[in-house]
Amino acid sequence: MSFSPVSHTQDDALHIDAKKLAANLPYFDYVNDTLHIDGVDSHTLKQQYGTPLYVYARRAILDNFAAYTQAFASIDSQICYAVKTNSNLAVIKTLAQAGAGFDIVSKGELARVLQVTDGSKVVYSGVGKTPDDIEYALSADIHCFNVEAVSELDTIEAVAARLNKTARISLRINPDVDAKTHPYISTGMKDNKFGISHEQAIAAYLHAKQLPHLQITGIDCHIGSQLLDAQGFSDALDKLIELIDELKTHGITLQHIDLGGGLGVRYIDENPVSVNDFANLLLPRLQKLGLKLYLEPGRSLLANAGVLLTSVDVLKPTEFKNFAIVDASMSELIRPALYQSVMAIIPTKLDTTGDVQTWDIVGTVCESSDFLGKNRALPLAVGDTLAVTGAGAYGFSMACNYNSRPRPCEVMVDDGEHRLIRQREVLDDLWRGEIA
Ligand code: LLP
Repeated sequence: MSFSPVSHTQDDALHIDAKKLAANLPYFDYVNDTLHIDGVDSHTLKQQYGTPLYVYARRAILDNFAAYTQAFASIDSQICYAVKTNSNLAVIKTLAQAGAGFDIVSKGELARVLQVTDGSKVVYSGVGKTPDDIEYALSADIHCFNVEAVSELDTIEAVAARLNKTARISLRINPDVDAKTHPYISTGMKDNKFGISHEQAIAAYLHAKQLPHLQITGIDCHIGSQLLDAQGFSDALDKLIELIDELKTHGITLQHIDLGGGLGVRYIDENPVSVNDFANLLLPRLQKLGLKLYLEPGRSLLANAGVLLTSVDVLKPTEFKNFAIVDASMSELIRPALYQSVMAIIPTKLDTTGDVQTWDIVGTVCESSDFLGKNRALPLAVGDTLAVTGAGAYGFSMACNYNSRPRPCEVMVDDGEHRLIRQREVLDDLWRGEIA
């Protein structure tokens, strides 16, 4: 692919052509050199809501969701949005109205889903479900538990028996495939804590079959996140098919297969496999299998539907480096600090005449890992507004109050309209629940 908005200058600074980058982000574009998000001027948003500010384009979320349903239209499927990606109620509601189910990993995430819809399309992954979590999920009559350990089967059985209910279960298989992603977000290799090994799987299913309050409905896996090619999914599918065939010989037939989430996105110049190519690779095998397909995408629905707007507060050139200190930090967006993710940072107002220098874009948190981007070639002045793109996924949902920073507000834009979907925290929120 020829697309790349990036060039490196002599001192190895990262120069991003903001116009080119935005041209590849549906619903983000420059109008009169000012960044607009689905028809809304980013400076209007800054004026009205202040910064730091998360902004999401509702229509981008819906288009990304539709890409999945259309790509898999030839088979029975259910797309379950991974709530951890961005758990704002407005995002959950948008997707629920479009027909999404939900992949959850905690009681809290289920409670969020139940604020806007029922539990019937919920799959519950997670390595440490407690009896209390299980009871809550059974009461919500969720579609299925994605079971991650043999002992979890016994815990679910005990809770279901006590409540006189039947729990639908799937076993999350750890297929031991290399997803070729950052080690912190690789989840399907045998040294990861997730799932039940391929070797133990048949014995675990046979154990589940003995338990009267469990109904075996499926098999699932999730091998990692930000996967740029589909090979890992393909390898995992083959491993699950082997198990499905072997289960049949034991009289266990399944209704669904869940391949998890994980499709990657373009943050700057990556070339992730498209949803269509991903589907076309897997569909022949899935059609033959005849099971209902579940998928649990997160990042690919949300990342490029969102930006984090931040203001430049201080410019601090030093002998060694130039620091641009902005009002967002690792507390608002931890991905660069945690995974060394390189995310695009573009000006909301294009300035073709300004003096371009190389900056580390950093927050005010007292950690040297507190950066949003390093070596960025930009013309900057105090008071400028920058947009970190790709921030709709694992942005606000990983935000925290470190350094006693109130968390930012979130805004949804939709075809020229905008509305607040989460208030900016105030100082009182910082010590809510504390006892002096
Ligand atoms: N299903 C399960 C069981 C998961 O654990 C995850 C993500 C997903 C689905 C959704 O995966 P996605 O489609 O978003 O790749 N905080 C990291 C990503 C952690 C992903 C954790 N699991 C980041 O910012 O890169």
